[in-house]
Amino acid sequence: MKKTILLAATLAASMGAAAQGQVNIICSVQADWCNMMATVYSRTTGTKVNMSMKGSGEALAQLIAEKDNPKTDIWFGGTGDPHLQAAEQGLTLEYKSPLLPQLYPWARKQAEDAKYRTVGVYLGPVGFGFNTELLARKKAQAPKSWADLLKPEYKGEVQMANPASSGTAYTVIATLVQIMGEDKAFDYLKSLHKNISTYTRSGTAPIKAAARGETMVSISFVHDVTTEAIQGFPVGSATPSEGTGAEIGSMSIVKGARNMEVAKKFYEWALTPGAQQFGVAAKQFQLPSNSATAIDPRMPDPKKIKLINYDYAKYGASAERRRLIAKWEKEINSLPR
Ligand code: F6P
Repeated sequence: MKKTILLAATLAASMGAAAQGQVNIICSVQADWCNMMATVYSRTTGTKVNMSMKGSGEALAQLIAEKDNPKTDIWFGGTGDPHLQAAEQGLTLEYKSPLLPQLYPWARKQAEDAKYRTVGVYLGPVGFGFNTELLARKKAQAPKSWADLLKPEYKGEVQMANPASSGTAYTVIATLVQIMGEDKAFDYLKSLHKNISTYTRSGTAPIKAAARGETMVSISFVHDVTTEAIQGFPVGSATPSEGTGAEIGSMSIVKGARNMEVAKKFYEWALTPGAQQFGVAAKQFQLPSNSATAIDPRMPDPKKIKLINYDYAKYGASAERRRLIAKWEKEINSLPR
């Protein structure tokens, strides 16, 4: 009883203190999570939250375009590589949260790599999604390895996103380069191209297409497959036997933000276990970065996945990210199928 009153009093005090202002957020996770964060935060603090949703690559492009006159205060979520690129380009603010000691080492390392201009908010491994009914109908096996994706039975049946707009797809390409070496990875991507039906704008579009029976296989983060599976779609996931990479979903404060003080408050809130629980509440199953946030059994278990030692600093560097995306456009996306 006492605890409840104390909680209510704390909430009321924080509402009174911050019941003003607004914050402009670009949100690069799925809409349900973005909307839940916006609704809860504005109801509990009185702050007006203006939220726009964009893929990781598109969010970075917007911050670059707004550089001299920022309209965005916070960039929440999206793969870590473009957040590192934003940090390197001086688009985001150096800020050390007092909550850093509560975060897992991978989330703190992301902050250190960015000289504290970003921070890890979740982790998610790359893998495959597949429609089990389509596989059964075509008497095809579910893919278990990167090599499997090249099988002729998947011709025109694989979807992945375009790395220029999607952080998921860039993480896939950077992962393949780290596993195979650059030349072999691009040879592999050329062969894979023959099986790809379309490169989507958003990273989650391929698994949504697989869930709805529009494609047999997707290259996706495995937590995004779970989101479709728990809604009753006939999908399963696998992580590649050769090894795979993982994203460190990140959050950054925009340098020169117009609503800086409110932005810092939102940022602090988003790192608390209380806020991070809204991921699962919105049916999103990335691993949260605060070690005190409850782990849901449906989240991927990194100990059961052959994760490579992904070099986040190297593949988040502006020159490297731009070079690999341009190379993919020129050497892969332009090829006929
Ligand atoms: O919200 C789902 C998610 O896969 C995140 O885990 C990830 O950071 C983001 O989408 C990437 O989206 P995109 O590939 O469109 O940039």
